[in-house]
Amino acid sequence: MPETKCKPTAKSQIISFTKRSYWITTFGCQMNKADSERMAGILEKLGYSRANDEFEADLVLYNTCTIRDNAEHKVYSYLGKQAKRKQNFPRLKLIISGCLAQQEGESLLRRVPELDLVMGPQHVNNLQNLLEKVELGNQVVATEEKYISEDITSARRESSICGWVNIIYGCNERCSYCVVPSVRGKEQSRYPDSIKKEIASLAERHYKEITLLGQNIDAYGRDLPGITKEGRKKNTLTDLLYYIHDVHDIRRIRFATSHPRYFSKRLIKACFELEKVCEHFHIPFQSGNNKILKSMARGYTIEKYKSIIENIRDLMPNASITADAIVAFPGETEEQFRDTLSLINEIEFDLVNTAAYSPRPNTPAAIWKNQIPESIKKARLQEINEVVEENSRRRNLRYLNTTENILIEGINPKESSQLMGRTRSNRLTFVQISKDSSPTEFIGKEVNTKIKEVRSFSLTGEICN
Ligand code: SAH
Ligand code: SF4
Ligand code: F3S
Repeated sequence: MPETKCKPTAKSQIISFTKRSYWITTFGCQMNKADSERMAGILEKLGYSRANDEFEADLVLYNTCTIRDNAEHKVYSYLGKQAKRKQNFPRLKLIISGCLAQQEGESLLRRVPELDLVMGPQHVNNLQNLLEKVELGNQVVATEEKYISEDITSARRESSICGWVNIIYGCNERCSYCVVPSVRGKEQSRYPDSIKKEIASLAERHYKEITLLGQNIDAYGRDLPGITKEGRKKNTLTDLLYYIHDVHDIRRIRFATSHPRYFSKRLIKACFELEKVCEHFHIPFQSGNNKILKSMARGYTIEKYKSIIENIRDLMPNASITADAIVAFPGETEEQFRDTLSLINEIEFDLVNTAAYSPRPNTPAAIWKNQIPESIKKARLQEINEVVEENSRRRNLRYLNTTENILIEGINPKESSQLMGRTRSNRLTFVQISKDSSPTEFIGKEVNTKIKEVRSFSLTGEICN
């Protein structure tokens, strides 16, 4: 692993960042979005204000993703434009963070010499120190493995209603296609007390919904001490849900992403019993064929996956089930691809995020000989997307004419007389209100809504309270 590279800084200096502006563009998953919010919080605490224009900011930070190669290409073109701007505007500070930064490390400095700072995801909390080194004139690379200390800054969150709370960083799995373990490092769980404190502070600031985040959230607590009287690990995700449930004024609790290998009956029971835990489960299956699952090193079979869904639906028949799937994994035959389509039709998912397999650096599957040609990848992706959309549309019919509890997050940007929020099952919903009410008074409130229209990915209804 490369070291944090820069000339030694004798003493940390107090540097004023006031009157400077910043811009952050985030690529990738919720985890990256949560990291960006923490980095924005650090920058604002230092005195930076948010810029209105990416090409006028004094500091530009690209928080990157490398899950597939198309995520990579975009960021290089963004960086190129900023590098050019820096030639005429040398005070611009150019930063690349996130998973691509971790993957490429120092080599990014050769590719884009104008970069001031390359930092991996484990260094997010340390942005202030890294910036101080940059201010002294260093070009800094921070990609060494690091214990992620408790966050002492407060995030600058995009939403004032729904907040993300990281509970476990990294991933110890070794799925043969996935770059995450090599860029996000080993699993590190936060202590239940710090998590609860963060949730309580969100509640104090009138947040109503929290989503617990982890790449493999079911692994939560494996690295924490403590065994129960019955001899089981004490701090599991299930225990955490019970522990945080009483935080006053939080109305909804969600969590993502679940791994079928570790998803337990105890967890399902907790979700059923705990009123605030929403009936939405995001459990990626990746493929509907056991042979492919084995070569993906996922550690479960389709039979196991189906039994999890059955157990959920036994207790919560209307629960929303969403997932991720990969098509055209190396060696995937037409028949094996059809198994994935059949599974989607059999389970009737509310939504499946799909992707064609993309070979990633330092992953076993990337060097296998049996890669699938681009044309087949494209055709399979198109076909699966049609099946997914049809299932989502069909699944959404169950909402028609029902009354749903919608937590209002804002106003429909396309129609100012409508509110915008989500069902407990996480469906985006637009809510028509009467002409004499003011939309802003509903933000952060839960409203009962009669659903009048359903589409594949959203609903529309009328307020009824
Ligand atoms: N931790 C989660 C997923 C993390 S990555 C899990 O275990 O399911 C998010 C999604 O990106 C994955 O679920 C997978 O569907 C997709 N993905 C990951 N690596 C990929 C690759 N090399 N090519 C295509 N899709 C990939
Ligand atoms: Fe990647 Fe597998 Fe870890 Fe998910 S569980 S992040 S797919 S290695
Ligand atoms: Fe991308 Fe990193 Fe998330 S690779 S999907 S930003 S963990």
